[in-house]
Amino acid sequence: MFVCWIWWLGRFTNIFFLYPQQTDLNSFLWTIKRDPPSYFYGTIHVPYTRVWDFIPENSKQAFQESNIVYFELDLTDPYTISALTSCQLLPQGENLQDVLPRDIYRRLKRHLEYVKLMMPSWMTPDQRGKGLYADYLFNAIAGNWERKRPVWVMLMVNSLTEADIKTRGVPVLDLYLAQEAERMRKRTGAVEKVEEQCHPLNGLNFSQVIFALNQTLLQQESLRAGSLQVPYTTEDLIRHYNCGDLNSIIFNHDTSQVPNFNNVTLPPNEQATAQEIDSYFRQELIYKRNERMGKRVKALLEEHPDKSFFFAFGAGCQSSLANSGRENKDILTS
Ligand SMILES: *[C@@H]1O[C@H](CO)[C@@H](O)[C@H](O)[C@H]1NC(C)=O
Ligand SMILES: *[C@@H]1O[C@H](CO)[C@@H](O)[C@H](O)[C@H]1NC(C)=O
Ligand SMILES: *[C@@H]1O[C@H](CO)[C@@H](O)[C@H](O)[C@H]1NC(C)=O
Repeated sequence: MFVCWIWWLGRFTNIFFLYPQQTDLNSFLWTIKRDPPSYFYGTIHVPYTRVWDFIPENSKQAFQESNIVYFELDLTDPYTISALTSCQLLPQGENLQDVLPRDIYRRLKRHLEYVKLMMPSWMTPDQRGKGLYADYLFNAIAGNWERKRPVWVMLMVNSLTEADIKTRGVPVLDLYLAQEAERMRKRTGAVEKVEEQCHPLNGLNFSQVIFALNQTLLQQESLRAGSLQVPYTTEDLIRHYNCGDLNSIIFNHDTSQVPNFNNVTLPPNEQATAQEIDSYFRQELIYKRNERMGKRVKALLEEHPDKSFFFAFGAGCQSSLANSGRENKDILTS
């Protein structure tokens, strides 16, 4: 939902001449034809170990040969993490308990207690072997939740599922590429600032956010009660990515971390709210953002015609923010 870059590129091919590499069908690599060539690469926010072996050699080679690597955000910069943390917080002195309707607050608290209780059983022996403990992980993701803005709590609740917890503790592919770029002493940069990704989310109004949080909690409660199957998991996303199934990655709305509220069984007034949220996200986080990022990419390429760029942006429509909190910083500093 957030990025949908590659989808966007398909629609703006008049800006650059892009074509998918023909040698590997399952490739998320696009070449910008110039001398030396530059590249767009569609990454994914899942542990790199789950996808690395499936990434075609031509993509790895393009990464190695490029001079400058650009990401959406600079996740290796401590400022990114601290800016994100403060952008997610409620204004000074406010607490979720003061802000949320009583019923929602109570259900949220109960759900987080459930997650905390379940977390040790969700973690894999591999994670424990790496010294990743449930208490630590819960605090890294959900600590300080009472001070977060409701929209961020909603995203957080969405990422506190068994399938997602099992993927924690290994750098996600974009972060891994950033670390590799640093190790190879490449020049790196980011086309966006945290605030540009964060502020649009904070711009949903109160009734919209409460609706979204309520729907998210209802979904988690159904999952807990066993009356709902997990609709789409990280595992599905990884499988589609490894098969190079671009359409599933990009067009399947269920892959987004912002839940899709357009549920036809909702009563009409709630359906209208769902639609409002959907078009707000589409406008702010896809159209406006793509245009902004596109302009910056174009400027960079024009400014450095002699350099080979590797732009690594999310291929799926996932938020790079929901999963880039303290935990990444800890991975970086460990
Ligand atoms: C939120 O925005 C929607 C649509 O723009 C509007 O109908 C609604 O009244 C707003 N709610 C609040 C609390 O501002
Ligand atoms: C949450 O959603 C349910 C079902 O759509 C609705 O009946 C309930 O009033 C909502 N609660 C709040 C606090 O909005
Ligand atoms: C829509 O909502 C109903 C009731 O809340 C739920 O049973 C159903 O699974 C939902 N459908 C989708 C596609 O999310």
